[in-house]
Amino acid sequence: MEASVATESLSKLNINGDFASSLPNLHKNLHLLSPQQVELAKMLVEKGQSHLFEHWPEPGVDDDEKKAFFDQVARLNSSYPGGLASYIKTARELLADSRAGKNPFDGFTPSVPTGENLSYGDENFIKFEEAGVKEAQNAAFVLVAGGLGERLGYNGIKVALPFETITGTCFLQCYIESVLALQEASYRMTQGGQKKEVPFVIMTSDDTHARIVELLESNSYFGMKPTQVKLLKQEKVACLEDNDARLALDPQNKFRVQTKPHGHGDVHSLLYSSGLLYEWHDAGLRWVLFFQDTNGLLFKAIPASIGVSATKGYHVNSLAVPRKAKEAIGGITKLTHIDGRSMVINVEYNQLDPLLRATGFPDGDVNCETGYSPFPGNINQLILELDPYIEELKKTGGAIKEFVNPKYKDTSKTSFKSSTRLECMMQDYPKTLPPSARVGFTVMDTWLAYAPVKNNPEDAAKVPKGNPYHSATSGEMAIYRANSLILRKVGVQVDNPVKEVFNGQEVEVWPRIVWKPTWGLTFADIRSKVSGSCSITQRSTMAIKGRNIFVKDLSLDGALVIDSIDEAEVKAGGSVQNKGWLLEKVDYKDTSVPEAIRIRGFRFRKIEQLEKQFSEPGKFELKA
Ligand code: UTP
Repeated sequence: MEASVATESLSKLNINGDFASSLPNLHKNLHLLSPQQVELAKMLVEKGQSHLFEHWPEPGVDDDEKKAFFDQVARLNSSYPGGLASYIKTARELLADSRAGKNPFDGFTPSVPTGENLSYGDENFIKFEEAGVKEAQNAAFVLVAGGLGERLGYNGIKVALPFETITGTCFLQCYIESVLALQEASYRMTQGGQKKEVPFVIMTSDDTHARIVELLESNSYFGMKPTQVKLLKQEKVACLEDNDARLALDPQNKFRVQTKPHGHGDVHSLLYSSGLLYEWHDAGLRWVLFFQDTNGLLFKAIPASIGVSATKGYHVNSLAVPRKAKEAIGGITKLTHIDGRSMVINVEYNQLDPLLRATGFPDGDVNCETGYSPFPGNINQLILELDPYIEELKKTGGAIKEFVNPKYKDTSKTSFKSSTRLECMMQDYPKTLPPSARVGFTVMDTWLAYAPVKNNPEDAAKVPKGNPYHSATSGEMAIYRANSLILRKVGVQVDNPVKEVFNGQEVEVWPRIVWKPTWGLTFADIRSKVSGSCSITQRSTMAIKGRNIFVKDLSLDGALVIDSIDEAEVKAGGSVQNKGWLLEKVDYKDTSVPEAIRIRGFRFRKIEQLEKQFSEPGKFELKA
């Protein structure tokens, strides 16, 4: 197929000769184009894309659209490593493999890689957290936030959603405040050194860019210096209409190539081409952390994970959670090829079981003696060591192994239901690494590290029992569960949760407890701020919004909100009892309730609370 396309194209390549007869519509319009655009036209024709011009009208009609078409082609060409020609070539190869049903893991045998399993609050965890906080000032943080969020179906951008609705703090604010708290803690730990600003990069796309800028600007960057934040916008890639990788025209506009997102794997080429990696290297940075848009628990796991990377010298450290066999989450797996190659990589759950069965493990993906699969569950938060990362990207330019996932009309696999495109995932970065690369993982408890908000209420309610909902409801409830469990670990008597159903999802409702990252970034921090005999009832709500609030002998049954400036030292204790905040059910279909709230299925009704603000420096005592 490819040969015939190429032959056909070559015969059309002669711009001044045959070209006139074989592609008359393009030929007639050539004088409208700049020399660069003519070159792009040649390349497209050569790559079997003549159909793009078949409908072009006479010069004088839609000329601006024709030029705009080439502006778009130029963008598609320059934003893809190797240009559109390379995109089309790879697409043809991957489409042929897909059509032939080729198994990408042919020749590979899976085994369990080595990594670190951490248990929250034990000696090992505390040691890694301390090492991680020390190293944090040498890290750069990269948030990938270019995704459409189709599964969630929220009308706004996902990072603008509150990650909890006690304070209404959105995901982006949570992330920025956590990075700032980590930066400050790191500086304090290694005092004497130079105060560094930890870089914060956000990868956006046309679907999210303007709204992320607006969110940052209208909130003064949530306290971060605007110069500390860098936005890198990923471009979409061209859609493909058939197995020959012919580019699809936009059904709404025949002078545009239809485009779709290329996936979060773009982050690597964007970081490389932006020059930021070299800047960071020159500034003495050592780590690059990648994370996703809606995991409100993430920063509870970050300090210890950086510690693992630093202590173990991992070039790649994937954050992971225990995974039940066959659970719908990718497994981190070592793959060894018969030719000796090996890599440690995420294998999607639906590929892991058949791969195991085909390679001498007749039971496939099963739990081991721990009650979990020996392959940890990948949560797609990565920590890369900067220098080896730069070395690798020098070779690849940041291009990540792509895949294609066409939905065929029938078993002949000759045509697609709708156009497809190449995609790439950031966690596939290790695929090109040499076997000498140190690729490991850090497993943390799910309750501590992972509660993404990906699914809309309707789909979440249909999730098979026992699987996580990954909805706005479960995402927020996971914050309260984690904070309750953490306080239990430092000796607070926290009541058991009750089960309730919101938007058709049964969740555990723990006391609603939140705090600012400056109050409790690490286990050691929290332990130093809580003492005596403390208790919190299930119906309680507590928000701690200040660095130096010391909770001692507090018995809470109701709602308590403490807000203080850094220079105020507040002792909070005594018995706080009031009517508190009720959790009121709302239906996600009730459009009188703001979308960001109704997708959770609940809201707070504030009946009564003890609320104290400390806005002057000094020492204070809050006694109920
Ligand atoms: P998801 O897998 O949640 O995909 O992305 P999504 O596109 O946001 O949501 P769906 O699949 O349409 O429901 C994981 C992370 O990768 C980012 C997302 O913003 C999210 O943080 N992402 C995804 C990108 O930055 N670019 C992409 O092209 C795709």
